[in-house]
Amino acid sequence: MQQAYIQFEDVKKVYHMGEVEIPALDGVNFSIDKGEFVIIAGASGAGKSTILNILGGMDSLSSGRIFVDGQEISRYTSKELITYRRYDVGFVFQFYNLVQNLTALENVELATQICRDPLDVEQVIQQVGLAQRRDNFPSQLSGGEQQRVAIARALAKNPKLLLCDEPTGALDYNTGKAILKLLQDTCRKNGITVIVITHNLALAPMGDKVIHVKSGKIDSIEINEHPMDVSLIEW
Ligand SMILES: Nc1ncnc2c1ncn2[C@@H]1O[C@H](COP(=O)(O)OP(=O)(O)O)[C@@H](O)[C@H]1O
Ligand SMILES: [Mg+2]
Repeated sequence: MQQAYIQFEDVKKVYHMGEVEIPALDGVNFSIDKGEFVIIAGASGAGKSTILNILGGMDSLSSGRIFVDGQEISRYTSKELITYRRYDVGFVFQFYNLVQNLTALENVELATQICRDPLDVEQVIQQVGLAQRRDNFPSQLSGGEQQRVAIARALAKNPKLLLCDEPTGALDYNTGKAILKLLQDTCRKNGITVIVITHNLALAPMGDKVIHVKSGKIDSIEINEHPMDVSLIEW
């Protein structure tokens, strides 16, 4: 069978909390093409982060299969997962997680030291709009600027996938919008597959594909033939 670039097949995840079993994912199926800009939407607790963490090799699945670029990552050993996380996956979180005593530039450089084929750091810093702020420490940057550093850090690794878990969750409206625009532009310009989690449904029109998650299951999948530019979306 021909596999998509990313494919989830009947993926289940059960967390065990003492005697209690929490079915975080209950048979999840979807596929994503290379270079797609994908939104994963759903209420808090729906299972969005679990999907992204498993796809990013940060968490294991209980059953099912996951393919990425022809490899079945759900069969990876922990050693193979280290390599996968290091070379193939860029991750952006809600709370930036920058090293506080390194400048913007140094934070990005640090990440490139552990990868195979990094992009030019100066160029990436420029791409995210931080050329003027490259020598500032995180405490001297706004939230939006810190998130740009985090995006640059993830991009500089030249990953196959850019996974973003609520990247605008801690930002105000306009800053959040600018960050989403940067992610959408990056997807288009770099041809990288970008997946963004949000609980904001107003964002749905910007995705090539929108995967709606509800109680650990896929509720629906929308394909937008003409995804909207973020700057045209009001929410
Ligand atoms: N490490 C964990 N241990 C136990 N339960 C977890 C863990 N991570 C997530 N869960 C539970 O799994 C469900 C889905 O969580 P999550 O994927 O974080 O949802 P979302 O990101 O959509 O808010 C929730 O009920 C959550 O409490
Ligand atoms: Mg979450």
